[in-house]
Amino acid sequence: MTITDDTFKELMKRFASGVTLITFEDDGKYSGLTVSSFCSLSMNPPLILICIDKKIPSHNSLENGSSFGVNICNSEQGKLAWDFANSNVDKNELILSLNHEVTENKVPLLTDCLASMECTIKEAYEGGDHTIFVGQIEQGNFNEESEPLIYYKSGLGDFKPN
Ligand SMILES: Cc1cc2nc3c(=O)[nH]c(=O)nc-3n(C[C@H](O)[C@H](O)[C@H](O)COP(=O)(O)O)c2cc1C
Repeated sequence: MTITDDTFKELMKRFASGVTLITFEDDGKYSGLTVSSFCSLSMNPPLILICIDKKIPSHNSLENGSSFGVNICNSEQGKLAWDFANSNVDKNELILSLNHEVTENKVPLLTDCLASMECTIKEAYEGGDHTIFVGQIEQGNFNEESEPLIYYKSGLGDFKPN
């Protein structure tokens, strides 16, 4: 039995996740996108994965690139997450307007996030209409104080612990 696209979405939207901003440099400009498909993969070596839609411009940049940044959103960064998910927003200008540092590999890392890390792309696997990019964490910073931003049922909000 094949499920419909609507059923697939209804199933997936019931999974709450954190939110990341993936940042990278492409052809002299900074760019990025909002990604909730970030996942820890391995500690030794330190690997993470992200799943990227083959249809979006960022896919091409990551496919041809060698590294990217993962910036984990804090609860104050909901608007920023929508902006990074909007292909009409100039991401180069957006990143330049934010507090950031640039690594030796030209990866912009957003310093006000809950955590940020630089990853080198190690593998790219087929995953249906997405590609699974495996990144090795090369360096990272984290903030002890902030709370996470949560994505659930197409909305962004706060985490409420029991
Ligand atoms: C909360 C949230 C999570 C998202 N997660 C992903 C994801 O995991 N993978 C993906 O390919 N797109 C994801 N998107 C959609 C991209 O952010 C969106 O398509 C973006 O416009 C792509 O940027 P680009 O057009 O500059 O390539 C997500 C969007 C939102 C709002």
